[in-house]
Amino acid sequence: MTLIMTPGAARSFEGKVAVVTGGAAGIGLATCRRLATAGASVVIADIDDEAGRAVADELGDQPGGVSFHRADVSAETDVAELFAHIRGDHGRLDIAINNAGTPGTFGPIAELSYDDWKRTLDVNLGGVFLCMKAEIPLILESGGGSIVNLSSGAGTRGFALLPAYVASKHGVIGLTRSAALEHATNGLRINAVCPGMIRTAMLEEFSGSEDALDRMGRAAPMGRLGVPDEIAEAVTWLCSESASYVTGLALAVDGGVVAG
Ligand SMILES: NC(=O)c1ccc[n+]([C@@H]2O[C@H](COP(=O)([O-])OP(=O)(O)OC[C@H]3O[C@@H](n4cnc5c(N)ncnc54)[C@H](O)[C@@H]3O)[C@@H](O)[C@H]2O)c1
Repeated sequence: MTLIMTPGAARSFEGKVAVVTGGAAGIGLATCRRLATAGASVVIADIDDEAGRAVADELGDQPGGVSFHRADVSAETDVAELFAHIRGDHGRLDIAINNAGTPGTFGPIAELSYDDWKRTLDVNLGGVFLCMKAEIPLILESGGGSIVNLSSGAGTRGFALLPAYVASKHGVIGLTRSAALEHATNGLRINAVCPGMIRTAMLEEFSGSEDALDRMGRAAPMGRLGVPDEIAEAVTWLCSESASYVTGLALAVDGGVVAG
């Protein structure tokens, strides 16, 4: 499914600098496309060099430009280098999408190794913390802006056999709300988006088969899986002036799952 942007939304990010972690694929890639076509200068941060460079090439002719910087969001030195690069190349930051994530290991708590637990928490929650720690001062120096963190439906309810992922995504909402309150009067809005089941490489890997994906789609109240662009639309809305009175929100975009 392709969503059409309204003419009024076009170019609404002209002059803005945005970073999208995990921007080389899935929801992050769809968000990069929307921000870039709306005029932002976009920096993609990802561990996948090949895909990241390919996206930067594909979107290279957009007005604000799109570049790729390799960074593992769970590595403090990578994150420091990423934001030093943004400061050096752009001199400002207006929008940050903390989207990089991993599903972690599927299985019972008693069988989950502590290393696997830590790796999932380090990427999904530690990565958001490390990035926000660097983004907040840079955005404030730039006169304010918006941060959107990718949580999940798994950030608002439990799921058996996904303990580290669920814990990390609950943590993202807590961190988002605390940061939003800390900066509510600073011109910096901080929100989370909680996608339902969105057809990306992560969901394909998690489900294991086309049949399983079909079943997951049919189980959603709307009877289908979501597509990355439907999440990107919510993310870019939260970054826009249209959401000027919205902060600390954990916005479900899930085809009705949260209603059940
Ligand atoms: N797809 C879904 O159904 C779904 C549902 C709820 C929440 N989410 C969340 O949305 C976000 C994006 O998910 P997606 O489905 O697009 O995933 P995806 O696997 O399609 O893409 C994730 C991207 O993040 C990158 N990445 C992974 N670890 C990284 C790291 N340590 N540092 C930097 N980059 C890293 C990957 O290389 C990839 O480009 C994740 O935080 C995920 O938990 C996804």
